[in-house]
Amino acid sequence: MNRLEGQVAIITGGAKGIGKGICEVFCKHGATVISWDVIDEGQIAADTIAAQGGKISFRKTDITDREDVKKAAAEAQAQHDRIDILINNAGIIRDRSFAKMTDEEWDSVINVNLNGTYNATKVVLPYMREAGYGRIVSASSINGVLGAFGQTNYAATKAAIIGFTKALAKEVGKYGITANAIAPGFIMTDMTASMPQNIIDAGIAQIPVRRIGTPEDMAYAYLFLASKEAGFVNGHVLHANGGVF
Ligand SMILES: NC(=O)c1ccc[n+]([C@@H]2O[C@H](COP(=O)([O-])OP(=O)(O)OC[C@H]3O[C@@H](n4cnc5c(N)ncnc54)[C@H](O)[C@@H]3O)[C@@H](O)[C@H]2O)c1
Repeated sequence: MNRLEGQVAIITGGAKGIGKGICEVFCKHGATVISWDVIDEGQIAADTIAAQGGKISFRKTDITDREDVKKAAAEAQAQHDRIDILINNAGIIRDRSFAKMTDEEWDSVINVNLNGTYNATKVVLPYMREAGYGRIVSASSINGVLGAFGQTNYAATKAAIIGFTKALAKEVGKYGITANAIAPGFIMTDMTASMPQNIIDAGIAQIPVRRIGTPEDMAYAYLFLASKEAGFVNGHVLHANGGVF
């Protein structure tokens, strides 16, 4: 239970859902976790995990705010003297068919899911390069590979994360840094909880393991790619979807 002992991990979108699950599992495995999120529930989540013995702090941080993200990374480095792991998990959906999609719905999803990943990676990477070690794992999605009705904006960002990761992996490998992505399938979080039960049931029927995924399922996939032992896995997209493809 100590695969991340002595390591410092920044997790974006750590307030709830998959991000909160990653915070919990990384803390269980000995990491010092810094959770960045825009919502105040991030503090509550961090307090709950800390009460169970986790070494975790919360910093209200909007990954679309370049200047603040830069400050947040500098603070993390100053406080802990290292940043070993960056999990680019924060993401949003603004679903609508392309014909009806507003410019705001397009821009906001690109800004959080893609530009936010750029912003966080841009400011953390120099510390990893200096240390000669790093693990960067970013959230793609099954819908970035297969597409989904009403998600041209979201699918564009999640496909982009794959290209970003594969290109970054080629640049940073020589510094002891790996860049990988996880493409979650159908996972029960607030992002999916608002769906009607019949749609959820129809989704589960398509999943060979016959259940919806959990944040904990995803957290263990992230744990593998964030671990030292995964050092020869670079530029990979881990499809964690219960066997859909
Ligand atoms: N739930 C699924 O089925 C599923 C499937 C595939 C991929 N994903 C991806 O996994 C990631 C997590 O999804 P989830 O279901 O846990 O979502 P969620 O909505 O439950 O949590 C996302 C978190 O990101 C935070 N966030 C949003 N904008 C932010 C910003 N600008 N700066 C910092 N934090 C911000 C939110 O406040 C929230 O806490 C996302 O990138 C999502 O696209 C989820």
